[in-house]
Amino acid sequence: AGQAMWGGRFTARPDALMQAINVSIGFDRRLAEQDLAGSRAHAAMLRKQGVISSEDEAAIQKGLEEIGREIAEGRFPFREEFEDIHMNVEARLAELIGPASGRLHTARSRNDQVALDFRLWVREACDRTLEQLRGLQRALVAKAEANAETLMPGFTHLQPAQPVTFGHHLMAYVEMFGRDASRFADARARMNESPLGAAALAGSPFPIDRHETAQALGFSAPMANSLDAVSDRDFALEALAAGSICATHLSRLAEEIVIWMTPQFGFVKLSDAFTTGSSIMPQKKNPDAAELVRGKAGRALAAFTQLSVVMKGLPLTYSKDMQEDKVPTFEAFDSLEVSLAAMTGMIADLEPVPERMAAAAGAGFSTATDLADWLVRKLDLPFRQAHHLTGAAVKRAEALGVDLPNLPLAELQGLEPRITGDVYEVLSPAASAASRKSYGGTAPDQVRAQAARWKEILK
Ligand code: ARG
Repeated sequence: AGQAMWGGRFTARPDALMQAINVSIGFDRRLAEQDLAGSRAHAAMLRKQGVISSEDEAAIQKGLEEIGREIAEGRFPFREEFEDIHMNVEARLAELIGPASGRLHTARSRNDQVALDFRLWVREACDRTLEQLRGLQRALVAKAEANAETLMPGFTHLQPAQPVTFGHHLMAYVEMFGRDASRFADARARMNESPLGAAALAGSPFPIDRHETAQALGFSAPMANSLDAVSDRDFALEALAAGSICATHLSRLAEEIVIWMTPQFGFVKLSDAFTTGSSIMPQKKNPDAAELVRGKAGRALAAFTQLSVVMKGLPLTYSKDMQEDKVPTFEAFDSLEVSLAAMTGMIADLEPVPERMAAAAGAGFSTATDLADWLVRKLDLPFRQAHHLTGAAVKRAEALGVDLPNLPLAELQGLEPRITGDVYEVLSPAASAASRKSYGGTAPDQVRAQAARWKEILK
């Protein structure tokens, strides 16, 4: 220790404040695994290409292995004086194997090194998220299938609109999380090119084989432009954009759980496992997990904004601003990970209260559209006229304090004498939902069909 990596050109030590603003080991230590993987691939390639000797490569690999063990066992000395993870590993390698360590950085710069490490990390984060999204979708599909016939009100403006089934409502989120998954998969495919070998920015005069290292690290190809390779972080931005949209979906579902859990709605129950009590009000059972999923969405959305702002003014190629890419990205994926896990747990845990939901499904004249449709079908009225007549029927029911299914036939016939008793067959919430058999509609058979389709996909 003591001499900075670039000591040759420097005579004085950096100011303490220089170190304070520069140091990143506190957060980029999370790239240790990726850094080692990159170094292993790089060293193997250098030897194959005859840039370093077999003995030096063997010493380097052995040292990297030992460092891997030290990290895994929590023995690795992360040191602030070495600034970041790359120089910490290199310094430790020098302590372990001596001068051969100095050959590892041939044809490499921290610029392509960090671009590689971070890309590998984000790629793994996308894979983890994809796995979690599948788990959440499975939980939703299972709950939806069990509730293919459970009635609930469908809302617009959070006002009762038309009866739907709880299964149908849950399957809506399966679709949303399915699109989230495809966004992560797309982002992953696009980011899967290797920046390693771009070196500082212009490429390397050594006979390196970038295809070789790309393949060793699971990339589909090396990135085609060295300036692009070290200067862009759009791979992280794209993953964060996918994360923001996913967090938005999670937050909406969380918000619905919060609403459904209120005694006023009483649509669902969450067990003690996903609720908390109050330190003062003994009656309370609060949906904190759902609220935190809703709240943590702020982190994902903020991270996308934060990294965009860091990047938007940077000329090519690398600027140290880019060291600020990691904290928001780590934070976004950490909060997404815990949110997805908590949401999956909540969905599995959640118990609908069918009586409350069914009662609410029929309230608020929710089958008014069914009455209007009946008038169109049976009496051949134009829909606008049927709409008007139905409005009058709702007004009458409201005045009498009854719901549509309980409005006496005489009252209906007072508005339109041709109305017959079979109209009541369409006025129950169950009949209303069952009648909506159009593709993607709320009828129980449609819900079961969609659940079956997703089960196949999620196998
Ligand atoms: N710690 C730096 C980062 O995270 C590594 C790259 C440093 N490169 C440089 N030219 N100073 O971005």
